[in-house]
Amino acid sequence: MNIDIAVLSGDGIGVEVTAAGMQVLEYITRKNGHKVNAAYADVGWAAIDKYGTALPPITREICKKSKAILFGAVGLPDRDQSLPQAQRPERVALLELRKGLFANLRHVVLPPGLADHCPLKKSLISAGIDIMIIRELTGGLYYGKPQGIQGQAGQRSAVDTMAYTEHEIRRILKVGFETARQRRRRLTSVDKANILATSQLWRETAVAMAKDYPDIQLEHMYVDNASMQLLRRPTEFDVIVTENTFGDILSDEASMLCGSIGLVPSACLGENASATPFYEPIHGSAPDIAGKNKANPVGSILTVAMMLRYTFGLEQDAAAIEKACFKVLNEATVLTGDLGGTSGCTEVTAAIIAAL
Ligand SMILES: NC(=O)c1ccc[n+]([C@@H]2O[C@H](COP(=O)([O-])OP(=O)(O)OC[C@H]3O[C@@H](n4cnc5c(N)ncnc54)[C@H](O)[C@@H]3O)[C@@H](O)[C@H]2O)c1
Repeated sequence: MNIDIAVLSGDGIGVEVTAAGMQVLEYITRKNGHKVNAAYADVGWAAIDKYGTALPPITREICKKSKAILFGAVGLPDRDQSLPQAQRPERVALLELRKGLFANLRHVVLPPGLADHCPLKKSLISAGIDIMIIRELTGGLYYGKPQGIQGQAGQRSAVDTMAYTEHEIRRILKVGFETARQRRRRLTSVDKANILATSQLWRETAVAMAKDYPDIQLEHMYVDNASMQLLRRPTEFDVIVTENTFGDILSDEASMLCGSIGLVPSACLGENASATPFYEPIHGSAPDIAGKNKANPVGSILTVAMMLRYTFGLEQDAAAIEKACFKVLNEATVLTGDLGGTSGCTEVTAAIIAAL
C-alpha cells in the first residue's frame, strides 16, 4: 500500500516529535511491505519566514493531494505577539486545515507503569486508563448563530447559540458507535438532556441508533456528572462521544489523567474525501524545551498509529506501534524528563523502534 501523506512539522518541538513519528512510520511500513510517500511542507513560523503566511498555497495544495496530514505544532508565543490574532499561526493553519473535519478523537492512555504520574491515587487507576474521547468539532455552541455582543456600554447583552441538526448528531454518534466496536464496545454519550433541547435531540438520536448496534453497551451521562466520573472511575470509560464545547472541556480534563501532555495523540476526521484527515499530538510547540532533545515523542508516534488505523486501515501496524510505545513506557527505564526520566527524544524513539 502507498502511504501518501503531507508532513507539516511546524514550530518548536513539532520538528523533533514529527521526525520521531516519521522514523517509526518508515520502520514499520518498510518491515511490512508498504511505501511511504511523504510530502514535507512549511507551516507556522517556518512558512511565515519564507512566504509571509502561516499556511501558504503550496502547503494547502500538498495537503489537498495527500490522503492524510501528519502535523507537529505551530506557534511561538514570543513571535506570535507581533501579529494580530487573526494572522497567528495556530489560528490560520489549524482552522483552515481542520475545516470540514467534524470528529475530533483524542486517545488518553495511562499505562500501569506510569501510575505515579497520574494525579489520581493508585487505588482508582490500578486497572489502567484507556479512553477514546470523540468531540464533535464543527457545530454546537462554538458555531451557533446568532452570536455576539450588542447594545451600549453598561447595557450590553451577549448571545451564543447551541444548534445541531439530526444529520450532524447522527454522523458523530456513528463515529462513536463504530469506534466502540473496534475497542471494548462501551459507549458513553455525554449530553445535558435535562436542560438543553440540542441534548434532547442528541439523546433521542443515540437511543434510536443503538438499535443498529446491539453489540455496543450504550450509557447516557450528563456532562456535569461525566466531568466528575472521569475522576471517580476513569478506568471504566471506553469511548466517550459528545458535543463540541463539552468535548473541549472533558478532553482537556481527561488528558491530564495520563501524566503528561506529551503522550496524547489526536485525529480530526471528516465524512468523505472532501477534507484531508488531520493527525497531531495534542501538545503545542513547547518553546521552553525546543531544540534540546527533551521532547517526549510518544504523542506523535501514537498519532502515527491513529493515522494508520483510521485513514489507511492498517490495524495490525497501528496496534504494533501502540504495543511498542506502552512496553517502553511500562518498563520506565527510557523516559523523557516530563515523566521523570533522563533520556532524550531520540533515545525514546530508538527504544520504541527496538520494541517493534
Ligand atoms: N496544535 C497546535 O499547534 C498547538 C496546540 C497548543 C499550543 N500551541 C502553541 O504552542 C505554543 C506553546 O504553547 P503552550 O506552552 O501553552 O503549550 P505546550 O503544549 O507547547 O507546552 C506546555 C508545557 O508542556 C510541556 N510539553 C508539551 N509537549 C511536551 C512534550 N511532547 N514533551 C515534554 N514536554 C512537553 C512544555 O515543555 C510546557 O512546559 C504557543 O504558541 C501555542 O499557541 C499550538
